[in-house]
Order: sequence, then C-alpha cells, then structure tokens
Amino acid sequence: MTDRLIPLYPPTHPEPVQLTHLYRDLPLPVGEGLFVYGNFVTSMDGRIALGDGLPAQAVPGTIANPRDWRLFQELAARADILISSGRYFRDLKAGRAQDILPLGHDFTDLVKWRDQQGQAPQPDVVVMSASLDFQLPALLLEQGRRVWVATVSSAPAEGRARLERQGGRLLDCGPGPRVDARLMMQRLAEQGYRRAYSVTGPWVMHELLRAGVLDTLFLTHRLRITGGADYATITEGPLLDPPADFDLAHLYFDPEGDGRAGQLFARYDRQAG
Ligand SMILES: NC(=O)c1ccc[n+]([C@@H]2O[C@H](COP(=O)([O-])OP(=O)(O)OC[C@H]3O[C@@H](n4cnc5c(N)ncnc54)[C@H](OP(=O)(O)O)[C@@H]3O)[C@@H](O)[C@H]2O)c1
Repeated sequence: MTDRLIPLYPPTHPEPVQLTHLYRDLPLPVGEGLFVYGNFVTSMDGRIALGDGLPAQAVPGTIANPRDWRLFQELAARADILISSGRYFRDLKAGRAQDILPLGHDFTDLVKWRDQQGQAPQPDVVVMSASLDFQLPALLLEQGRRVWVATVSSAPAEGRARLERQGGRLLDCGPGPRVDARLMMQRLAEQGYRRAYSVTGPWVMHELLRAGVLDTLFLTHRLRITGGADYATITEGPLLDPPADFDLAHLYFDPEGDGRAGQLFARYDRQAG
C-alpha cells in the first residue's frame, strides 16, 4: 500500500501528497478565541454508527480503517483540549469504545511531536454530560491531563461530588436541562484553551452546531454503502434553524482505503454569520 493521496480541491497541487503528517502539518487558525473542530468517518449512506438500539451502537468496522484513524489522531495532536461525552465513558467501561481517548498508545510519534512544539504530551479533556452518570478512568489523570466536566446547575449533586473526588473539574454551563455549548466554549477560552477538538458523537455535534460554535468539520467519506436500520448520522437532534452552512476547504482522494473501498478526506469550514 502506498502513503499517497490525490488532491482534488483546491486545484493547486497536481501531484499526489503523503497521508502521514497531512493533518499534523495542516494550517489551523490560532488566535484570541477558541477554534473548535470535529471529525467523523461516514459511509456513503450517512452511517457513522450502527447497532441494535442506541446504547449498543458502535462505529462499524466496515467504515473504520487505519488510514482514517491516523488522520483522526493527527487532528488530536493539534488540540489543547478534546471534547468528549458522558456516553463515551459509559461505553469505555462497558468495553464498547474504540480506544482510550487520543493520543492512542500506537501514536508515540505524535506525542513526541507535541513535546517538540512545547505542548503537553496529551491534550486535556472536557466531558459534556447532564446526567453525570459515568466514572472517570484514573488513566486520564495519570497521563497528566486536566479533565473538565461541562454540566448544568440542575445536575445531580451526588454525581458532582463523585466526579470531583475522581479528579474532574466541574464547569457550570447553564441551568439545563442540557449544556449550552456557547457558555462551555467561553469557560474553556477563559481557561486559556485555543483549540478544541470534538471526538464525540452526533448529539454533541448537534449542540455545537445549534450554538454556532463549530468552526471546521473534517469528514471522511468512505466509498461504501452499508445499509442497516439502527444507525446514527453525523448529527442527531431537532431541526437546525437556520441550517449550518459550510464551504469546502479541501478534498483528497484515497484510492486505497483498507485495500478495498477507497475514501475521500474533506475539510469543511463553517460560513461566518
Ligand atoms: N463514525 C465516527 O466518526 C464517530 C465519531 C464519534 C462517535 N461515533 C459513534 O457515535 C455513537 C454515539 O456517540 P456518543 O455516544 O459519543 O454520542 P454523543 O452525542 O457525543 O454523546 C451523547 C452524550 O453526550 C452528552 N451530551 C450530548 N449533548 C449534551 C448537552 N447539550 N448537554 C449535556 N450533555 C450532552 C450526554 O451525556 P449524558 O447522558 O451523560 O448526559 C449524551 O448521552 C457511538 O457509537 C460512537 O462510537 C462515531
């Protein structure tokens, strides 16, 4: 297998480019405010997760693949903080999560690269949750990460006390019933964060879009149709009014994928206003 991708947009690079380091070295904004970006791998028919009912959903092995996973990890290497969810930690405990939050054990080159950039080895984490019905694994804190829990003032007192005992730092983000992502981003910016990467699922993505805080979406379009009746798409929730509009910033064609179906790596930037 080669490490080459074919650039399709913008039409400025006629030669194939290398996949490794593509997203590690990609220009990303850094300024006074918080730059927020997310990432999904999706089938051509829009599936990002499949399973028998929501609690059992997982990213299907038919769309996940090591080349997309590499770029997912490179995007994490660019972040000060990862956005995760209560459900991810419940899945992790139940053995249903894909892996520990990035950077994963197999990506020591990216940990070393962060060190060379003067960054902490691992990005910090913010967990969005209203129920607070999850446990924080000790490993995250042992890795030297600060772990924030973004929640609402109506969240259960028992959950707050438990998560604080486990080393979580609580961030109150509105009265509820759900976290207001705009408040969450303000609080994180006040803590000095400049780049936040959403590595979580479609309900969090819906809130990032509703609140108008998502700047950029990286989407891997696997050239494969899976079907399946129980599935999630990249965003789940009520109609977005107004809808979220994006510009295409780049598009690469990976003809190899995992040796069968290829994929497209796209970057979409949210239109201002
Ligand atoms: N294909 C891909 O690229 C991709 C990427 C990510 C995830 N996935 C898959 O998608 C499926 C769902 O992912 P996920 O469980 O991580 O979904 P998610 O939408 O990120 O997480 C849902 C949980 O996040 C919390 N949450 C969401 N919005 C909130 C808000 N406004 N306020 C407070 N809490 C909020 C809730 O936690 P509480 O219930 O604790 O309140 C909720 O249960 C999984 O199977 C996952 O593997 C696929």
